[in-house]
Amino acid sequence: MLTVRSFAKINLGLAIGPLRPDGFHELRTIYQTIALHDIIRVSVTRGVGIEIRCPDPRVPKDQSNTCYRIVERAMSALKARGRVIIEIEKRLPVQGGLGGASGNAVATLLGLERALKKALPDAERLRIAAEVGSDVPLFLLGGTVLGVGRGEEVCPLPDLPAIPCVVATPDIAVSTPKAFADWDAHGALTPASPSDRLLMFSRNMSAWLNSQDIYGRASSGVPAGKRRGRAGTPLLDLVRAGIENDFEQVVFPQYPELREVKRVLELAGAFYASLSGSGAAIYGLFASREKAGKAAARLVKMGIPAVATASLTRRQYWRKFR
Ligand code: C5P
Repeated sequence: MLTVRSFAKINLGLAIGPLRPDGFHELRTIYQTIALHDIIRVSVTRGVGIEIRCPDPRVPKDQSNTCYRIVERAMSALKARGRVIIEIEKRLPVQGGLGGASGNAVATLLGLERALKKALPDAERLRIAAEVGSDVPLFLLGGTVLGVGRGEEVCPLPDLPAIPCVVATPDIAVSTPKAFADWDAHGALTPASPSDRLLMFSRNMSAWLNSQDIYGRASSGVPAGKRRGRAGTPLLDLVRAGIENDFEQVVFPQYPELREVKRVLELAGAFYASLSGSGAAIYGLFASREKAGKAAARLVKMGIPAVATASLTRRQYWRKFR
């Protein structure tokens, strides 16, 4: 039996673009992996079929489960045989905007490959992951990831440092397809056209990346070591670049208590707070673990489930995966 951690993600900004002919929306987002996780156990025995075991009644055990769908495709691509048993120890919220089910799929795929002692080429993994869901491929990269297309076209970004954060998980399940449909219905109220929103996102991203020290030199030409106060600021720069999650515009009016959670995080000192994906998880980013711990305690006292955690760099993501 192979045991792997299946981490969660948050979205640092999400711009929703036009509805495409295939029924998906073009979007732009920055995904960031965080330390909260489920546990996945994969074993391959004699026989045939795929079995999902999970005591949580909200997790489907049939062909609609992301783990089932990825195993089906991977077994065929690997030309492998056997009965695959997947145990899901659920700690992340279901339909929470943290990519729980998507991360579960990737953890299952990588656990399966190890159990079978076979590996798919990277490009094949990415292709299969994208078939299973728009939010799945990001978990094949980890760290700070740019998502374009319907979110499934991923590209590693210069990794942000580990950041203390608080994740509040109000007991509300937001349906992502419904949130997109609400966005379409509400579209007329937004000032910018869908393609303008994507353009604005790309411009802000370019300005941010251009200001970053990707090659060890500032755009000013001053070597990295000679400049003060730059370490730890890339995220602040990103926040100042004006990142927003468009889903807030349709989800907050329906669940005003979520706007209140965001406000509590900001009042507790978060330098940025936002809905993650289509929610209902709300996160706040903090300058210190102490501040994050206090903010989480404040929310818990108010009866809102919340935990203090930290974002995971790409290296940490892969180190902690197994
Ligand atoms: O890809 P995923 O299975 O997560 O998508 C679930 C649903 O969310 C899609 O069927 C679609 O209705 C909606 N969606 C969308 N645009 C995206 C991603 C998802 O409209 N970029």
